[in-house]
Amino acid sequence: MSKQMKKLATLFFLGAVCSGQPLSALAHGGATGIVKERMDAMEDMKGAMKTVSDMFKGKIPYEAVQVRVAAETINMHAGENLTKLFPKGSLHHPTEAKAEIWQEWDRFQHLSKELERISQGLYDAADNVGSENEEETSASMMGMAAEPEVQEGAESFATMPVEAVFERLSDNCSACHTDYRVEKDK
Ligand code: HEC
Repeated sequence: MSKQMKKLATLFFLGAVCSGQPLSALAHGGATGIVKERMDAMEDMKGAMKTVSDMFKGKIPYEAVQVRVAAETINMHAGENLTKLFPKGSLHHPTEAKAEIWQEWDRFQHLSKELERISQGLYDAADNVGSENEEETSASMMGMAAEPEVQEGAESFATMPVEAVFERLSDNCSACHTDYRVEKDK
């Protein structure tokens, strides 16, 4: 590329950024094949997470049925259904996946299994609003704050406040992104 062309390309790039077009939209425009498939699955999960998060923020009314629908959406994409969208070395443009995925395949797989387990937990906990939270409040008032971290297994999620399970789920998304997704716009 000539110096002038490089300059032009840079200007074009900056122009696109400054015009307010999201970088991600630019970068993902050309996704094809398995990369597009997994990006679509991720976007689907993002939508489900947003619905539930909007409920907790009070933007839309809380509805356990909708929480279960969101949990099912995530559950359907999790576990093996997610990891099978990452065949070894599938790093073609415009992927944000990191090569570490295949160097640490066991851990990557584990995080995807956790996604499956916790989303099942969200489904099971969808009705846990109100009384459970009061229980937690009185426990912490007596100086014994509830520690959801020590609880394991889908059974215990079923008795946890739904918001706590949602937080665990969100942490799981972040844990995988932190290690296995290239940081671009956030
Ligand atoms: C097992 C690891 C893992 C888990 C768990 C995970 N992700 Fe991802 N996610 C990735 C990787 C890797 C990419 C980059 C994929 C690519 O660009 O090829 C990604 C990309 C994304 C993207 C960008 C998609 C795009 O259009 O480029 C979104 C949005 C996203 N994830 C949302 C979520 C949400 C929400 C959750 C939790 C409900 C979640 N992810 C759980 C690994 C994970």
